[in-house]
Amino acid sequence: MFSFSFLCLLAICGCTFAYIEIPQDYLDAIIQDKADESSAGEYNYDEQGDDWTGTCQTGTNQSPIDLIFEDSKVVAIPRLRFYNYDQALQTPLVITNNGHTANMVIPLTRAGQRPSINGSLLPGDFEVQSVHFHWGSPHTKGSEHAINYQRYDVEMHIVHKNRIYDTMGEATLHPDGLAVLGVMFRAVDRVTSQHYGLNKIFNQLPRIVEYNSNATITGTLTVGQLLGNIVTGEFFTYNGSLTTPDCAEAVTWTVFPDVLDYPRRQIAKLWNLRDSRRMPLVDNYRSIQDTNGRDVYYRVLQ
Ligand SMILES: *[C@@H]1O[C@H](CO)[C@@H](O)[C@H](O)[C@H]1NC(C)=O
Ligand SMILES: *[C@@H]1O[C@H](CO)[C@@H](O)[C@H](O)[C@H]1NC(C)=O
Ligand SMILES: *[C@@H]1O[C@H](CO)[C@@H](O)[C@H](O)[C@H]1NC(C)=O
Ligand SMILES: [Zn+2]
Repeated sequence: MFSFSFLCLLAICGCTFAYIEIPQDYLDAIIQDKADESSAGEYNYDEQGDDWTGTCQTGTNQSPIDLIFEDSKVVAIPRLRFYNYDQALQTPLVITNNGHTANMVIPLTRAGQRPSINGSLLPGDFEVQSVHFHWGSPHTKGSEHAINYQRYDVEMHIVHKNRIYDTMGEATLHPDGLAVLGVMFRAVDRVTSQHYGLNKIFNQLPRIVEYNSNATITGTLTVGQLLGNIVTGEFFTYNGSLTTPDCAEAVTWTVFPDVLDYPRRQIAKLWNLRDSRRMPLVDNYRSIQDTNGRDVYYRVLQ
């Protein structure tokens, strides 16, 4: 009886008073993510990263690259396996404008699990950490990778950390530290399917226009919903790097050639964000890097 009336009270209060308690462990993860982000120092996309230094300049396994079907090794690769991708995450989720992207640290599922992936050519089990986006402008395409020389409007990155490393900082020191899934979005005027999960994120973007602002997402969201209806059985995979400083060569990349059609009016919300200089945060993608003879593998749908 008590909990019932308490819930009623919450429901009534929810209309006018939107304070939501954020669990301490999730708050700590957000603070850590922010610290990791600022440890890279100041950087911007004025030259699409061509002015970044250190490994960004000297590395030979850098990302993004042009993914070309004809140049890739089409071999039998185990399918990518997703765990707890269909499980509702704890809420609220927090989405932040960190000056370089709209970033969301992913909490545990309601059952206390961390969604993860393995299979493919992944060297281990990789746990979801965060999701963010790269985009262009009303006149430019903003994906980082190109597929058969073509770039797309938006590229979403779902970042995972190898379970054997305790922190993101430690993971970036090892070639098997991270696994990132890249999903291309195409801005369309008419959609054939609704993407309710992505809409929950994009609907909050007008609240995080300014640098360092954040917004919360409530309700039911799974990591799998972020993939929309794309085919995950077919993908490119290769060894590369973070596409932001310090460009650590710690990433097994998986990029899906199937493109997610998403409303232009939703994508336009990304173009309205601002950076720490209060300038439009647009074209936050790094230029295409040299493959340097690296193997790029392609898995065909079986
Ligand atoms: C993949 O991850 C799942 C869930 O963590 C685990 O149960 C399974 O043993 C892993 N599979 C392999 C081949 O490592
Ligand atoms: C969100 O922004 C508010 C206002 O600046 C700040 O007090 C709060 O700490 C931020 N929350 C998170 C989780 O970063
Ligand atoms: C990444 O590099 C490791 C070590 O050289 C290699 O075993 C693995 O097959 C590579 N993975 C991909 C996807 O190229
Ligand atoms: Zn990224």
